[in-house]
Amino acid sequence: MQAENRPIGMMDTGVGGVYVLRRARLAMPSENFLFLADLANAPYGSRTVKKIRELTLQAARKLADEGVKALFVACNTATSGAIDLLRETFSFPVVGMEPAIKPALEKVPEGRIAVLATPATLRLQKFRSLMEAQDEEHRVLPLPCPGLSRMIELEGPDSESVRDYLHEIAHSAQDVTAAVVGCTHYSYLHRALSEAFGGVPVFDGADGACRQMRRLLKEDGLLRETGEGGAVLTSSTDRESDVALLERFYRMAEEEE
Ligand code: DGL
Repeated sequence: MQAENRPIGMMDTGVGGVYVLRRARLAMPSENFLFLADLANAPYGSRTVKKIRELTLQAARKLADEGVKALFVACNTATSGAIDLLRETFSFPVVGMEPAIKPALEKVPEGRIAVLATPATLRLQKFRSLMEAQDEEHRVLPLPCPGLSRMIELEGPDSESVRDYLHEIAHSAQDVTAAVVGCTHYSYLHRALSEAFGGVPVFDGADGACRQMRRLLKEDGLLRETGEGGAVLTSSTDRESDVALLERFYRMAEEEE
């Protein structure tokens, strides 16, 4: 098969990456995507960095074995813990997620920028370095959200428990003028997040990551630019109900547009 016709592998622990997949399909409509949700080992967000690296590499290897031409790590936690390892291991382009701190700081010049993410993402060196490099005035307020990704998955982004969770988090923070989505699962919460913090703008890194993937593929002569694209959704659990869950969230991401 010609190199550009091979699929792009995409991974997350669950439904968060499905939101990135939807955005990626809009940015690269002729591409085929093979999506793997590591639901057998989800969530990664409260795990040790050693375990996150091991699980991320294992999931990436499964996609590499399917002959993907590039890897899209649609998970902030896996990116923070293992992107360097993935880039050392594979010779194809690897793109990860980064919280959109820079655009938030630039577009919202006053007040605090709340970054909501898993405890692992906020604890890891990658996030610390990003903050040091971009947040000279110390305006970023990291807000770890243990358990939120699973709650979104199991109870739904519009559930009362998710709404209560966000209100509690927002209540604990003062002077917040913008919110940054630092976990792909929270991309389904744009409206709820804005409301919880009193109508602030919400920044999401998904489109930036898609642009980066498109640029790298183009540079390497790997971008598929004609013909119809598609996506195959899979889970490491092999449970049909898990694939149905991914499909449901894909439709939700479409409805958000
Ligand atoms: N969606 C993932 C992220 O972007 C993490 C969810 C989890 O497994 O804890 O961080």
